[in-house]
Amino acid sequence: MELLESMRSVGYSFDAAVADIVDNSIAAGARKIQIVADSIDASYIAFLDDGDGMTSDKAREALKLAGTSRVERTTTDLGRFGLGLKTASLSQCRRLSVVTVRDGVRSALQWDIDHVRQTGSWSIRVLDDQDLAVIPQADRLSVDENGTLVVWQALDYLLAGAGDPALEISERLQHLRHHLGLVFQRFLEGRDSVRIEVNGVVVAPVDPFLEGNSKTQAGPRETVVIDGHTVVVDPFTLPHPSALSSRDRKRSDLGPSMRDHQGFYVYRNKRLISHGGWFGLSKLDELTKQSRVRVEIPPELDSQWQLDIKKSRVEPPQAFRSRFRQIIEHVTGGSKRLHRFRGRATSTPHAVYLWQAIEERGGYRYAINREHPMIAGLQTQLPPEKRRLLEQTLDDLATYFPAPDLYVRMADSQPRIEIQFAEAELRERLRAIRDAGGALADPVALVPALRRVEPFNNVEDLQSLVAEVWEENR
Ligand SMILES: Nc1ncnc2c1ncn2[C@@H]1O[C@H](COP(=O)(O)OP(=O)(O)OP(=O)(O)O)[C@@H](O)[C@H]1O
Ligand SMILES: [Mg+2]
Repeated sequence: MELLESMRSVGYSFDAAVADIVDNSIAAGARKIQIVADSIDASYIAFLDDGDGMTSDKAREALKLAGTSRVERTTTDLGRFGLGLKTASLSQCRRLSVVTVRDGVRSALQWDIDHVRQTGSWSIRVLDDQDLAVIPQADRLSVDENGTLVVWQALDYLLAGAGDPALEISERLQHLRHHLGLVFQRFLEGRDSVRIEVNGVVVAPVDPFLEGNSKTQAGPRETVVIDGHTVVVDPFTLPHPSALSSRDRKRSDLGPSMRDHQGFYVYRNKRLISHGGWFGLSKLDELTKQSRVRVEIPPELDSQWQLDIKKSRVEPPQAFRSRFRQIIEHVTGGSKRLHRFRGRATSTPHAVYLWQAIEERGGYRYAINREHPMIAGLQTQLPPEKRRLLEQTLDDLATYFPAPDLYVRMADSQPRIEIQFAEAELRERLRAIRDAGGALADPVALVPALRRVEPFNNVEDLQSLVAEVWEENR
């Protein structure tokens, strides 16, 4: 009993548990997998596939808790431990039924935790026709075709703490579709693809690297060889959030929580094992939120990578860590450059910025650039007592810049409104300079000064615009 209870608490998430059941269907050659959940009171979830099915001996073997990790496996098998079916199911439910058809023979078996508890007998129940009649969806598995039905009932762990089961299940299914689309992306697309439906809705492939978006930066590819087996590593820098399609922006891994999804995406036999995180080699930095690295590990290296039984976590072997650190440095460098370019912190010979980032005492702060022609011009025009007030106001502007607010909004990828000045507004600004008089109002000195500052730096024929505005006064 303790074994059962501890098996139940290995910490599967709902999504990971379902993916484990789907693994088995794909490994059995299924082309269509239908996941059907009772959406009213969440009394069951059923998984129906058209794979090879199992003979009754095999089905019995499959339900044994001991597992069959030592069986001969092909290198493309998604299974590894011989445990998934039982641990994944019992982590979510108290009653697991398996009905399978192989060459016209139907076998139906069940693990029922309550039955084990009541009878004290550790036995798999064989279901007869009468039992089968009350197994949800069992009527959909015909004896004329091979296939397997896995049914979870008494979903106590799944619904633990949930208020409204219908609401809970619909939210779970929504998230599940995204998860399955991500984990099985490469099975869902292309020729020979597998079709997965969740309550009738087809699961669409989800590409974590947005390879279809022309703004995604890929490469360079690196390969790492361990014990004669090659691990292929492909770094990607996703487009800036502003270059995402509106559909992609709604994706849970690309919207506000994009930052949490940076890192390594590890695949084993085309199936995604772990997504995101830098294996403790780097932080989930805001500046590197667009960096994702695809890693393909051959199943021969399972044990070195410490693949866990939930198939949702791996740890790179020591030999990889230093190499990965370099790769991270490389790829996150690209991501940071993308932001710095947009951040554009200091003055250059061709531009004078109003704001400056000043690095000092191991940190940084922002300041208003006193060399900016507008500021400098205003300063020289003011009498000393007013100049002091201007100085203070500029310092206050810099000091109380709402940086935390900006940070949160940017992390959230909220679209920032960029103001473009129309020509009428530019003229109005020039008039203000003209009418204020002083050194700046001299059009000969003004034009070269304005060429280096926003918003005038983008005006094509600044010379004529200034001439026209000054002409108005003659
Ligand atoms: N849908 C299915 N169709 C056909 N055979 C299945 C199906 N599900 C499970 N099996 C059989 O049951 C066996 C046990 O499955 P289980 O998921 O417990 O272990 P596994 O897939 O071998 O390894 P892992 O623990 O890594 O998942 C599988 O090896 C497979 O032979
Ligand atoms: Mg399995």
